[in-house]
Amino acid sequence: MKKQMVWVLSLAVVVLLTGAAFAQFAKTEDAVKYRQSAMFLIGQHFTRMGAVVKGEAPYDKEAFEKNAVLVESLYRLPLEAFLVPGSDKGSGMKAEALSQKDKFAQMHKATEAELAKLVAAAKGGDMNAIKPQFGAAGGSCKACHDAYRSK
Ligand code: HEC
Repeated sequence: MKKQMVWVLSLAVVVLLTGAAFAQFAKTEDAVKYRQSAMFLIGQHFTRMGAVVKGEAPYDKEAFEKNAVLVESLYRLPLEAFLVPGSDKGSGMKAEALSQKDKFAQMHKATEAELAKLVAAAKGGDMNAIKPQFGAAGGSCKACHDAYRSK
């Protein structure tokens, strides 16, 4: 009886550590599609803000703020989709992202923080504060792409 309990408990721990984090994805390809779709949307809305920051599109406080909030929320989605074992294959993600999970997760977190600051700046509506923060956020996207993106 006692042995059985221990077994059940260890199984529960294993499920928690492995299964739960990836349970949302039926297939490895789903995780890849999921993160690429999220990143695609993030990229679209980030580029729209970029055009405003560069002066190529007019600044509309409300629209800019919407883009910033959207990017920040979409960005909350994909971390676990990056960490699915084997999901580097056939994708634009380098294998190092999986072998250096902690560093990858750290970079992910850093970007999250930059995006939160971008939302705050967008809400403030001062282009002098938005510009450098947009640059910082973009720099944190690039840092991860340089390290872990292969295309
Ligand atoms: C922690 C690492 C990391 C951060 C931070 C990051 N990305 Fe990515 N991004 C990736 C990886 C890895 C891929 C390749 C995913 C794949 O092909 O499976 C990618 C792919 C993309 C793509 C291509 C999506 C497609 O169509 O396949 C775009 C666009 C993109 N990222 C934009 C951004 C933007 C904008 C930011 C910052 C707001 C950002 N990324 C931050 C790791 C990151």
